[in-house]
Amino acid sequence: MKKRVAIVTGGIGGLGTEICRQLALAGRQVIASDLPARADRLDAFRTELADLGDAIRFEPADVSDYNSCADLITRVEAEHGSVDILVNAAGITRDTSLRKMSPQQWHELMRVNLDGVFNMCRNVVEGMSARSFGRIVNLSSVNGQTGQFGQTNYSAAKAGVHGFGMALARETARKGITVNTVSPGYCDTALVAAVPEDIRSQIIADIPVGRLGSPADIARAVRFLSSDDAGYITGANLPVNGGYFMSF
Ligand SMILES: NC(=O)c1ccc[n+]([C@@H]2O[C@H](COP(=O)([O-])OP(=O)(O)OC[C@H]3O[C@@H](n4cnc5c(N)ncnc54)[C@H](O)[C@@H]3O)[C@@H](O)[C@H]2O)c1
Repeated sequence: MKKRVAIVTGGIGGLGTEICRQLALAGRQVIASDLPARADRLDAFRTELADLGDAIRFEPADVSDYNSCADLITRVEAEHGSVDILVNAAGITRDTSLRKMSPQQWHELMRVNLDGVFNMCRNVVEGMSARSFGRIVNLSSVNGQTGQFGQTNYSAAKAGVHGFGMALARETARKGITVNTVSPGYCDTALVAAVPEDIRSQIIADIPVGRLGSPADIARAVRFLSSDDAGYITGANLPVNGGYFMSF
């Protein structure tokens, strides 16, 4: 049987890299997609995942550009066959309070974090429907559930990602496609490492589990939701936040 083909957008990012690793370990042919990257960044990604060989390939695309996403799917399907799994992990922040936020900071973020999810899903859903199988996992954030100071744009987009996912889950459930959201809490990635030490310590003190999430914590949740076995879970949000935010 052909290996299932998985595309991970934001695939060379802090969480994306580990998601690629986990999906490759699960036996998938993984396509890490990201903006055309600087050579040193791509080299670091390739070195980190060198042990997995050809199970992970890189294909550039800009998720904010519909045609770029359409081209990506065409290229991947020509080389590897149909896309079975899509993980939307590309994301950016443009933090500032609303009173200071420019329309550009709002729109740039929406184009990547929300339009990007539409652009990718729109280009894979028809094929998945025709083949009666698909797994879509969208990365949201605890800050989409709680709101965060300085993140009206990010919180709106991340809440939107789950609303989008629930609607798409209903539209595709009879076609063997599941659409789920993973909402990470604060993770041990470059983004959080850049937070000043005293604020980071306070964040950790507020996490019941007592530590930041690791990329592997998030990636294992994505791996499960993208597995064939997870076919009865759709339209769900899986918080992976160490108990930082609990809800029913
Ligand atoms: N790290 C955390 O603590 C955390 C917490 C909650 C949610 N998240 C979410 O998880 C996802 C991954 O986060 P991360 O920590 O790996 O971030 P990251 O910045 O390390 O990686 C994001 C990747 O997205 C890529 N990207 C940006 N714009 C793009 C575009 N237009 N087209 C294609 N790729 C683009 C970047 O190049 C980068 O490699 C994001 O959606 C983020 O919002 C992260």
